[in-house]
Amino acid sequence: MAGKGNTRPLTDARIAVFCSGNGSNFEALVRKNRRSAFPGCIVLMVVDNPRAYAIERARRLGIPVLYVDPSPYENKQAYEKVLYEELRVWKIELILLAGFMRILSPFFVRKYKNRILNIHPSLLPSFKGASAIRDAFEYGVKVTGVTVHIVNEGVDEGPIVLQRALKISEDDNLDSLEARIHRLEHRIYAEAVNIVLSRSWKIVKGRKFVLCD
Ligand code: GRF
Repeated sequence: MAGKGNTRPLTDARIAVFCSGNGSNFEALVRKNRRSAFPGCIVLMVVDNPRAYAIERARRLGIPVLYVDPSPYENKQAYEKVLYEELRVWKIELILLAGFMRILSPFFVRKYKNRILNIHPSLLPSFKGASAIRDAFEYGVKVTGVTVHIVNEGVDEGPIVLQRALKISEDDNLDSLEARIHRLEHRIYAEAVNIVLSRSWKIVKGRKFVLCD
């Protein structure tokens, strides 16, 4: 899987999941991976926050955790170089961002071109940013949803692999909507990873994720 898309299905990929907080998507991904919902193997969790609850989940699931503290590095690229070297040691071929609260620079994104996925809790391009569920709810949209996309050099704007819509009902409050969005996320992230790893696809005009098989 290089350049514009994947030239061969990558069914034996070594996968790292990047987290900063709760880690519910990480846990759902690991459980689905173990039930063969997608090929490849999640072999590592990367965190930038030593207090992330995701670490406890990784410990329970027996997944090694790599904590790289960003604070000693003078800039983002210096930090990402160290991260990249670590990932090379682990032979990581696919990165899944799951609540990773750090924007990756073009340096890192180019190193893993078309090999980083992100999950975002809205129907992109609506409601980018860190408070998407709340923003959609407060805006009053009647339909929102979840997007899994390839990470490019922009923020929340790479080619879309999969989207699923969810109706907001009169009975929803922010808490119930968040819970419903998270349940949907836990289902579709694995589905999207399966598509990326087992199908042939390409990126058209830098924008559209298109299946070729
Ligand atoms: C999810 O809503 C995801 O869409 C967003 O960050 C949240 C992470 O939740 N990018 P969790 O840490 O996986 O529970």
